[in-house]
Amino acid sequence: MRMYDLIMKKRNGMELSTEEINFFVDGYTKGAIPDYQVSALMMAIYFQKMNKRETADLTMAMVNSGETIDLSAIKGKKVDKHSTGGVGDTTTLILGPIVAAAGVPVAKMSGRGLGHTGGTIDKLESFKGFSVEMPIEKFVEDVNTIKISVVGQTANLAPADKKLYALRDVTATVDNLSLIASSIMSKKIAAGADAIVLDVKTGSGAFMKEGNSAFELAKEMVDIGNNVGRNTIGVVTDMDQPLGFAVGNILEVEEAIDTLRGHGPKDLTELCLTLGSHMLVLADRAENAGEARKILQNVIKSGEGIKKLKEFVTAQGGDASCIDNPELFEKASIIEPVLAPQDGYVKGIKADDIGLAALVLGAGRETKESPIDLAVGVVLQKKIGDYVAKGEPIAIIHANDKAKKEAAEKMIIDAFNITSEKVEARALIRGIVTKNGIEKY
Ligand code: URA
Ligand code: CA
Repeated sequence: MRMYDLIMKKRNGMELSTEEINFFVDGYTKGAIPDYQVSALMMAIYFQKMNKRETADLTMAMVNSGETIDLSAIKGKKVDKHSTGGVGDTTTLILGPIVAAAGVPVAKMSGRGLGHTGGTIDKLESFKGFSVEMPIEKFVEDVNTIKISVVGQTANLAPADKKLYALRDVTATVDNLSLIASSIMSKKIAAGADAIVLDVKTGSGAFMKEGNSAFELAKEMVDIGNNVGRNTIGVVTDMDQPLGFAVGNILEVEEAIDTLRGHGPKDLTELCLTLGSHMLVLADRAENAGEARKILQNVIKSGEGIKKLKEFVTAQGGDASCIDNPELFEKASIIEPVLAPQDGYVKGIKADDIGLAALVLGAGRETKESPIDLAVGVVLQKKIGDYVAKGEPIAIIHANDKAKKEAAEKMIIDAFNITSEKVEARALIRGIVTKNGIEKY
């Protein structure tokens, strides 16, 4: 088999066989096929696309390129959740504890990631001493006893995806449905979940900026999961403005704590209840989403959710005392409001640009090696549909550097679109995708 022939076949719009897909994934992972040939193939796929069979084959070839995690020592059905990424998305810190408190095992592999803020692991490290480095035996034991554990992603999970994603990133071939779907699903499948709930974002802060393409991406991933025996559903949700109010690491942890206590932002609470309900149904803990939602609402109301967070943080070596005493969290040295430049209704808040403001403040990583400042970020004071008077705060900046604060302030003002006409608040949950089809709300 020759790589040249595969490139030409795809360039001419033909279908690649299972053997051909295995050949290039295996050869690329081992270093036997050079970057320039795989780049050309990625560009051919970008223009000519792949069908469902090719996409499923690519997914499984990437799964089989490294180790797969066996979670069979954990009792019960393991349901994983994945979000396609957004700004200020703190759901894992809330979902993990409430789903675990409802009795469903949460065995999560997580990463640090590049982005506007740190990933789930960075946020968890806001609790001093918290560690995700542990032998797999402790991971399994913690999930069996307290129902939740988060471990760092091993280097050898879907290594083919790691190489391909890095290559796509520098060759303008990221935003292809089949390539995104197979990339995400290969990691979820390799991580061993029995069932998967996907939160597919749509809007200015998402990969899929336009509604229909988010549904198509969700369907593609749902079909891959179900084709390989993992019950998978997708929820399409709005990311046309940041989720909740806080964008930053400690700031988001504080927001998660508020939400677990039952007084978090409305959109964040709603998203967690929706995704969590589907997780409970897939884990056979509830008959339907309505019953599941009641269970989760009770978990929050009774305080079991916040208690679970404390147990989880303590089990992984973290100092849980700041959950009851948030003044113990590290604070930024400059905390200042951003004032509205005019009267009116908030029509839009570019999620991407708020994310970039948080990045400029130091909340995220620009390269893999950049340090993160856990204390800095942005806390919105207004969301889409709200009225704001000139001079009223639209956001609060938490900064440790005056020049960075000034840069972020400009970006936040530019990110807000304020108009004189009244604006409707936006629907958060846009629809649901299952193996049976797409339901738009
Ligand atoms: N996230 C991934 O893991 N892969 C993609 O291709 C896009 C987003
Ligand atoms: Ca948030």
